[in-house]
Amino acid sequence: MKLSELTNALSLGQDKSPFLDRLMRIMIHSKFFIKAKIFDDSDQSGYWITPSSLLLLKNEASSVAPFALAMLDPVLTDPWHQLSKWLGTSHATPFITTHGRDFWEEAGGNATMNTFFNEGMASDARLMLSIMTKDCRHVFQGLESIVDVGGGTGIAAKAIVDAFPGLKCAVLDLPHVVAGLESTKDLNYVDGDMFESIPCADAVFMKWILHDWPDKECVKILENCREAIMASKEKGGKVIIVDIVIDEDEGRVGHELRETQLCFDMMMMVLVSGKERTEKEWANLFDAAGFKSYKVTRILGVRSLIEVFP
Ligand SMILES: C[S@@+](CC[C@H](N)C(=O)[O-])C[C@H]1O[C@@H](n2cnc3c(N)ncnc32)[C@H](O)[C@@H]1O
Repeated sequence: MKLSELTNALSLGQDKSPFLDRLMRIMIHSKFFIKAKIFDDSDQSGYWITPSSLLLLKNEASSVAPFALAMLDPVLTDPWHQLSKWLGTSHATPFITTHGRDFWEEAGGNATMNTFFNEGMASDARLMLSIMTKDCRHVFQGLESIVDVGGGTGIAAKAIVDAFPGLKCAVLDLPHVVAGLESTKDLNYVDGDMFESIPCADAVFMKWILHDWPDKECVKILENCREAIMASKEKGGKVIIVDIVIDEDEGRVGHELRETQLCFDMMMMVLVSGKERTEKEWANLFDAAGFKSYKVTRILGVRSLIEVFP
């Protein structure tokens, strides 16, 4: 598409073209577009989408646009501007300094945030599970039941039951998240609190849960996970975690991925009093919750898959 066509498609006046040209230039630099000759009579150049664009295009299965939009919503970005003020208070997070209540209370009382946050998480779950159900099949094989703790609106659970027929999946999340969602034969929504109890299953799945919480709370969640899978210990009971393992050695992941891991760590500090952990810090949590062993597989970009065994 030529610049003039793009300007028209966006219903902008031609006087806005120079600004659009500059916006496109930085998005070309970020590899979301390329500029190349258009093969028509004009011999002008135009913008083409790239494989990376598929991560942001509406209606693409791989789109994480809802995730990007959620992370950039002012409800989530305003607390970043309150760091100095927060450090002078006794509040657990800059989020509380900004909004007067914690992240999950705000999500429960602010319907707009509840919707955009759940949709953002769901888009990430769709992308991640499309990879995991292909490349990590062995992790789920042999299981008859699994519970997705903090499983949001159940997108990961749906992908798991679709990929492994016969596997029953429960989704545990807070009442405002699972309200109105219909259970099916293989997928059961449970409203509850993971700090109270977790339904029994062969395995517990937790994606992007433990990084939301400080160590003490993580140990409590892991103890509840352990209790939930103990009956299935002989059948391969385990906890399957998808989260960041901070790479202490930048040489392995490279500068950019490590920077992303550290930015996520800041986000956890700003929004929810959680943190990203090194392998040693993860091992300490597993040990404190009574687990015997764990295995880290670093295959998911900035994130890792961690299997934890009782
Ligand atoms: C960062 S989101 C991750 C959602 C989902 N696992 C994913 O990765 O797409 C954390 C989830 O934990 C849920 N959650 C927070 N506190 C909880 C609690 N006490 N018991 C159960 N779920 C909780 C939130 O509602 C939210 O859905």
